Amino acid sequence: MGELTVVNHPLIKHKISMLRNIETGNKEFRELVEEIATLICFEATRDIPTVEVDIETPICVTKGSMIEKKLGVVPILRAGIGMVNGMLNLLPTAKVGHIGMYRDPETLSPVEYYCKLPKDSEEREIFVIDPMLATGGTASSAIDYLKRQGVSEIKLLCLIAAPEGVKRIQQDHPDVKIFAAAFDERLNEHGYIVPGLGDAGDRLFGTK
Ligand code: URA
Repeated sequence: MGELTVVNHPLIKHKISMLRNIETGNKEFRELVEEIATLICFEATRDIPTVEVDIETPICVTKGSMIEKKLGVVPILRAGIGMVNGMLNLLPTAKVGHIGMYRDPETLSPVEYYCKLPKDSEEREIFVIDPMLATGGTASSAIDYLKRQGVSEIKLLCLIAAPEGVKRIQQDHPDVKIFAAAFDERLNEHGYIVPGLGDAGDRLFGTK
């Protein structure tokens, strides 16, 4: 079962509370999303292996530890874009792919309308990012897509997760660990997370 880690830290709790606030404007919202993404990234990279290396300090030679694993960050369009810079703050050499999907109104099946991944994605550990894990349908389809491209190491990072979304990912992708800054109560009849923060994309980009 892909475990859910709700990253528990006073800074995250404080910033998530500010993010939820209806009075928080677009600029501050963007800054908070980026900052929280950085904090979640710190936790989600905790198990990345390191290799021992020799380092010459100004004083002597010593042993150090470096990450050799290639990494990738894949935002789900469009709200995932808001988390990219927060991830790259800690993973400056990671490559960034993009996945855009919509649900066909007739078949209700997810349709990929834009997907561009780093060409060596299958060698990378990939962090899929999307601020809101609501039904989990889009995230699950995005992970399906990555697996079809040969990616085998995937983590899903979100800001707020609903129980429905977590359950869906755990059922569809038991190998994928989920990291969230908050685990909320439920979805409402419109598919919004309660209490949530509203529409993450609109609040990031000022489209409402
Ligand atoms: N997407 C959002 O932006 N907000 C929600 O509450 C659910 C999905």
